[in-house]
Amino acid sequence: MDKKVTVIGAGNVGATAAQRLAEKQLCDVVLVDIAQGLPQGKALDLSEAAPIEKHDAKIEGANEYESSKDSDIVIITAGIPRKPGMSRDDLISTNMKIMKDVTAQVAKNSPNAIIIIVSNPLDAMCHVAFDASGFPKNRVIGMAGVLDSARFRTFIARELDVSVENTHAFVLGGHGDTMVPLPRYSTVAGIPLTELLPADKIEELVQRTRDGGAEIVGLLKTGSAFYAPASAAVEMAEAILKNTKKILPCAALLDGEYGINDLFIGVPVKLGANGIEDIIQIKLTDKEQQALNKSADAVQELKDKLKELAG
Ligand code: NAI
Ligand code: 2OP
Repeated sequence: MDKKVTVIGAGNVGATAAQRLAEKQLCDVVLVDIAQGLPQGKALDLSEAAPIEKHDAKIEGANEYESSKDSDIVIITAGIPRKPGMSRDDLISTNMKIMKDVTAQVAKNSPNAIIIIVSNPLDAMCHVAFDASGFPKNRVIGMAGVLDSARFRTFIARELDVSVENTHAFVLGGHGDTMVPLPRYSTVAGIPLTELLPADKIEELVQRTRDGGAEIVGLLKTGSAFYAPASAAVEMAEAILKNTKKILPCAALLDGEYGINDLFIGVPVKLGANGIEDIIQIKLTDKEQQALNKSADAVQELKDKLKELAG
């Protein structure tokens, strides 16, 4: 394959992302993890599925970065996931150190790569990766909105008993309790959701979306969601690798857009070969803007906490 994607962290999200990348025949894949044998074992297992899954993607596992050299995209999933009772924000101190080390290696070995961050707390980890990589802002992108929107779409499709393919939804803001699902911009076969469901039912689906990560943690008990998160990261990677200019909600560093400065926040962006090629500004009502501002305040708090932890 002429494209190479490295996935750092060969755990649940990382290994599933590697599987999806290979099976969609998007690129060769390098899986990197600190656990001895884990990335090598998973890479070999995935490679042995290739004759049955019918793809020729090369999948390699490693504990160092040599084989990841000159990747087109690096997806970072390294870190610890949350356990029941923990919020995403409880992971900040451990994952900050991991993200700093990992991103420094990525920048050294793949200086032209586009980085997709998955590790939590997502918005804070985007700041760490942005600072540690020294990459321009179009090449550091956080995955959250695609996942949160996919959850909202799933709940809408189930409620209306329609194909998920008919649904479209946007969830903006930070990847936390203050995320901002936008029913006004959510549609089913082009029909606004607000015309199809009563306000109280929409609010129920919105709340389930906000609690979507915790719902899965509560069921799994030993980790957090990974099938849908991996799909979401791979949808972003595919748009970049194929230069499709797809508009997806992603965490991007804002520079005045939506009245927000110097914060990674989930907004609609256009993804292409250069990473974030445009930030799409949609008109928000006062209430929606207030919700986005509240979400930005929560990300600012995390950013302040990072500063405090760094001493
Ligand atoms: P996991 O525990 O299954 O895998 C994490 C892997 O990272 C482990 O294999 C571990 O050995 C590895 N790792 C730790 N330190 C490392 C380092 N310095 N270098 C390389 N690898 C290292 O966890 P899972 O479920 O894959 O989740 C990964 C992260 O993604 C978590 O922080 C989780 O909260 C986050 N997440 C974020 C989502 C989002 O929407 N942004 C959705 C799902 C998960
Ligand atoms: C999720 O939303 C844990 O952030 C992860 O499932």
